[in-house]
Amino acid sequence: MSGNEQRRDSWSRYWQGGALHSCAGSFEGNYADSIGSFWRGIFEPLKAGDRVLDIATGNGALPRLLLDTRGTAAALPEIDAIDLAAIAPPWYQACGADVRDRLRFHAGVAAEALPFADASFDLVISQYGLEYSDLSNSVAEVLRVLKPGAAVALIVHHAESLPVRLGRAECREIAWLLQSGGLIPRARRLLPFLARLGTPEGAASVQRDPDAAKARQRYNESMRELQQRAAGAAGDFLAETQQALGQLAAATPAAGQRAAETQLQALVEQLEQSLLRQAELVEHALDADAVQKLGQRLAQGDSQRLEITEIHVRDELFGWSLRVGAQ
Ligand SMILES: C[S@@+](CC[C@H](N)C(=O)[O-])C[C@H]1O[C@@H](n2cnc3c(N)ncnc32)[C@H](O)[C@@H]1O
Repeated sequence: MSGNEQRRDSWSRYWQGGALHSCAGSFEGNYADSIGSFWRGIFEPLKAGDRVLDIATGNGALPRLLLDTRGTAAALPEIDAIDLAAIAPPWYQACGADVRDRLRFHAGVAAEALPFADASFDLVISQYGLEYSDLSNSVAEVLRVLKPGAAVALIVHHAESLPVRLGRAECREIAWLLQSGGLIPRARRLLPFLARLGTPEGAASVQRDPDAAKARQRYNESMRELQQRAAGAAGDFLAETQQALGQLAAATPAAGQRAAETQLQALVEQLEQSLLRQAELVEHALDADAVQKLGQRLAQGDSQRLEITEIHVRDELFGWSLRVGAQ
């Protein structure tokens, strides 16, 4: 799989899990606090019939917020929402024809090649999305599909924000879990011995096996280290991994070696996908210079009004907000 296909696959799986947005553990409901107020302010002037494009929509957190703020489908503008991933937001499947007539999701569409005519949209929005694309092409595409003088509103990752710091930490921890001689390889080595505990003869042979004792000792050492790392960590991710491994080890004598290996492999794939998404988040976060450059390009120098601010949620830095053009 190429890097792009891996990225698409990883996000597709993430959204198929049903999360409404990509900070699933960090927010209650659909983007509360200052992020929600930012968007409500952006949505307020929209009229029925206006056209809005949401770039890198995921499971449609922004269209959902727009629908919630409008109350009725009749008051909705026309919304097109695109994403590179194979998205099919579960909440959208349950919407009536009145909503579906005005809101359309387009899966497998890259921000770098938008399938819309020039000068189509009154507003282009994106939340933690546009910065993931190749900006040298996607910014030109945004400018192409905007009507003259129309607006752009974005929330993008900030290089020093909480999600980016958590992302960096998660990348380090996943690398530690997967490294050769790390906890996951040690768990894999222990599984055949745990599987033998399923019969009395197997259990007796494991008791006498020095390789089993060595494998158990190494696994326990790494589990103790995981516990310490989890205690000092900000998110739940390490504690969840610890719990998943503990449950796997406990279930292996009854489940057998093959089933346990399959389950461990599923956990490894989940970790690798998470690593990919978190590494991308860190890589695409913008510092003050980069966000200024992005804003200037979208504002085409000084020809449009440009406003860039830091977004804080409950005293934590969560990103940059950019507003370009009318409003
Ligand atoms: C952090 S998620 C944000 C999703 C959503 N806007 C939200 O706020 O929940 C980033 C999204 O960008 C999408 N993405 C990455 N590169 C893209 C590209 N070049 N074109 C379109 N979407 C892209 C991913 O598939 C993923 O769904």
